[in-house]
Amino acid sequence: MNTEEFLRRRRQLMRMMGKGAIAILPAAQPRLRSRDILYPYRQDSDFYYLTGFAEPDAVVVLVPGRPEGEYLLFCRERDREKETWDGTRVGPENAVTHYGADAAYPIGAVEEWLPKLVGRCDRVFYTMGAQPDFDQRVISWVSRLRTHSRAGVHTPDEFISLDHFLHDLRLYKSREEIGTMRRSARIAVQAHRRAMSMCRPGLFEYQIEAEFIHEFRTHGAQPSYLPIVGSGPNSCILHYHENNRRMEDGDLLLVDAGCEFDYYASDVTRTYPVNGRFTPEQRAIYEVVLDAHEAALAAVVPGNSWSEPHEAAVRAVTKGLKRIGLLEGAVASLIRTRAYQKFFMHRTGHWLGMDVHDVGDYKIADQWRILEPGMALTVEPGVYIPPGSRGVPKRWWNIGVRIEDDVLVTRDGSDVLTRDLPRDPDVLEAMIGASAQ
Ligand code: GLY
Ligand code: MN
Ligand code: MN
Repeated sequence: MNTEEFLRRRRQLMRMMGKGAIAILPAAQPRLRSRDILYPYRQDSDFYYLTGFAEPDAVVVLVPGRPEGEYLLFCRERDREKETWDGTRVGPENAVTHYGADAAYPIGAVEEWLPKLVGRCDRVFYTMGAQPDFDQRVISWVSRLRTHSRAGVHTPDEFISLDHFLHDLRLYKSREEIGTMRRSARIAVQAHRRAMSMCRPGLFEYQIEAEFIHEFRTHGAQPSYLPIVGSGPNSCILHYHENNRRMEDGDLLLVDAGCEFDYYASDVTRTYPVNGRFTPEQRAIYEVVLDAHEAALAAVVPGNSWSEPHEAAVRAVTKGLKRIGLLEGAVASLIRTRAYQKFFMHRTGHWLGMDVHDVGDYKIADQWRILEPGMALTVEPGVYIPPGSRGVPKRWWNIGVRIEDDVLVTRDGSDVLTRDLPRDPDVLEAMIGASAQ
């Protein structure tokens, strides 16, 4: 992502904030995994969205219209010894030359600068609750100003969550973002193809997961969430990620795995038989879900509401399950009583972007949001029949099917970013195990 893109984002946000406002946003904190070992560091999405700056111990401050500079970045100083151990740091000088900050200061200077900057503003845009320690510091700056208010020191009148404006911006993807999301989607598609071609009975689920990690890392990406590789009964566990079962002949395999490339996520699911042949029951359920997927996809068009793809999927799942005898009654009443939820218990998708479950309101003033060009979402209906399902003949047990694609709303419809990954059951059958030995 180039520096122009980040500049554009900051400008847009500052235009929304208006004069007399200040936005304060701290970087994500490093997290301990065990003793002195950290989890891999991942910058906070909002912070990265505005800065492209990937280091911890940093604070971004935006003050629209401030003559001495609108964009201030506080970050770690260069330190030869620390850099020898932990890697290079950008440092305040390079934050100005490489990251477009109007001014940059050592992170330690925050305590000196922030009360002064806040004292000159009427509105503080800051999101409470994400980092309690930092919340306390922001509160302390304002209370310090309040204690001096009798001496004529100004205090801001309004605290506003930064989420509202920022997340609305993030919901509409720019051309640059769409380009990056396409790459993320393409890598995920290649990884699914690779995993399908290696799949065969006798492998463990983690060996399929390993194919994803290989493909992701080969392209400079990493998993955007814990991959779900669920075979047999595990295909029916929505957030399964132990991935430690031996896959048997006759099992169905549900693989939900996507990557993060340059801070943008893909999120893709395919379901197929481990041995390359659907049983009649597996195929019947697969086709119900495929119908629902197609119906939902057709409802992703600008002007439709957020809920329409889901409603289309619900209708198709209900009709399909009735056709094969797993639901009985009139379709309308099965939908009204939500009978389908026994088998299809999640919604049909979510926003997608820097976060897998990306930001953006789904409702505005209690109404479902209207889909608009530039929004990106997943379409992912599913049907799950775990072992022991009451009232369901045993031959249907252990069948969990989800089909998930990443979709961009365009001016005249939609663009399926993951379209190169087949969904047709016959095509899938031919791909399974093609490279297995
Ligand atoms: N992989 C998470 C989801 O599909 O929402
Ligand atoms: Mn998803
Ligand atoms: Mn998924």
